[in-house]
Amino acid sequence: MKNRKDDHIKYALEHESEYNSFDDVELIHSSIPKYNLDEIDLSTHFASHDFEFPFFINAITGGSENAKKINQKLAKVANECNLLFVTGSYSAALKNSDDDSFNIVKKENPDLQLATNIGIDKNYTAGIAAIKALNPLFLQVHVNLMQELIMPEGSRNFNEWENNLREFVQNIEIPIILKEVGFGMIEDTIKQGIGLGIKTFDISGRGGTSFAFIENMRRENSLDYLNNWGQTTVSCLLNLKDYTDKVEIIASGGVRNPLDMIKCLVLGAKAVGLSRTILELAVKYDVENIIKIVENWKTECKMIMCALNAKNIKELQNTKYVLYGKTLEFSMQKF
Ligand code: FNR
Repeated sequence: MKNRKDDHIKYALEHESEYNSFDDVELIHSSIPKYNLDEIDLSTHFASHDFEFPFFINAITGGSENAKKINQKLAKVANECNLLFVTGSYSAALKNSDDDSFNIVKKENPDLQLATNIGIDKNYTAGIAAIKALNPLFLQVHVNLMQELIMPEGSRNFNEWENNLREFVQNIEIPIILKEVGFGMIEDTIKQGIGLGIKTFDISGRGGTSFAFIENMRRENSLDYLNNWGQTTVSCLLNLKDYTDKVEIIASGGVRNPLDMIKCLVLGAKAVGLSRTILELAVKYDVENIIKIVENWKTECKMIMCALNAKNIKELQNTKYVLYGKTLEFSMQKF
């Protein structure tokens, strides 16, 4: 039998989004700088923890031999580069007691800043089991409705989701992040989440990985007209401008490089998650080369901040920007 996790990796790498909302954002630069490059501070804070860098390896995988190799490789990179590493959904390990594709990451890198992930369709006890196994800094609870609907073997019952989330909040002692998987979250979802006690949201928007595309590739009758379902990462961030002081917003979805990362931070994100971009590095390069690329990203983030006259993540939020195209049209509509 083919492994679903391997399918996800394969089709995620095959998909190239034709539109990325970060291209609709132009940052206004400064010609006379205030800061030297080495004065610039990339550190951030969310989910009750300090992080030295504002970008991290977001949930990707676990639950197969190939997934284990990718986790081992990326966890090593994260450990060497002092980045946060988030595993894919831990439910694969709960289904198979022989699975060590998640636990090995902890075993091989005891000091790694590690977090894990579980689906909102699961009972909170699954979250407790994941926490017991990995001792993570926080737990991401993912929402992936359109993925489930398109997935041939996906869930068909959803009215437990809200209550599951309520119970996660009530019973889990570490911070919980409510996370999308590339379809985006806007104000209505954030308000619902706040009502259920969520303080941190990863709005993971459209523009990179499309789980509609991935599941369509796994179906006999493709519903490919749904491949661009959801809201883009930049549209979500713009929609949530009034919430960046009320809750913690994490950005992910379609982040390709340090310029995209900085755009997320300018738009109020506390940190930026990368999945597809880092997965691509994991399959193309060895650990040493990925470390070099990630180390360069840190310097490149500082270069861009220097050219925007921002000493830290907070100051980045004063950056002026101009919007174009579909993103501008989205931002002008009230709904
Ligand atoms: C994912 N993503 C994901 N998210 C999640 O919450 N739990 C999971 O188990 C997975 N699994 C997974 C597998 C693969 C192969 C990919 C590429 C992605 C979604 C991921 O964390 C992120 O939200 C989206 O991929 C959007 O970001 P990118 O890929 O555009 O950077």
